[in-house]
Amino acid sequence: MSDWVDVAAADELPPGARRVVDADGVQILVINLDGGFYALENVCTHEATPIDEGDIHGDEITCPRHGARFCIRTGEALCAPAYEPIPTFPVRISAGIVQVRDPRFD
Ligand code: FES
Repeated sequence: MSDWVDVAAADELPPGARRVVDADGVQILVINLDGGFYALENVCTHEATPIDEGDIHGDEITCPRHGARFCIRTGEALCAPAYEPIPTFPVRISAGIVQVRDPRFD
């Protein structure tokens, strides 16, 4: 089973904050959305560009390259030019530390 990877202390990621971590070679973007933590692969499904610097409005993040929007909660692609969802990952808080893992190959 894949290991949980530390992201940051929960109090270092207030609402609106984001951070990218490497989990066994996968870049994962963790976002605090109104107090809940969500994790997406840091790759736009249009042309495999990082999305971590995209604008966030509500529960959507916009790819900074061509403007595709994705749901932060589900990874769903919400508009062209992206059509495939971004993979999402489980998040937990353990002893005050936000952690993620990539269980896709467990
Ligand atoms: S690379 Fe993200 S919309 Fe094109």
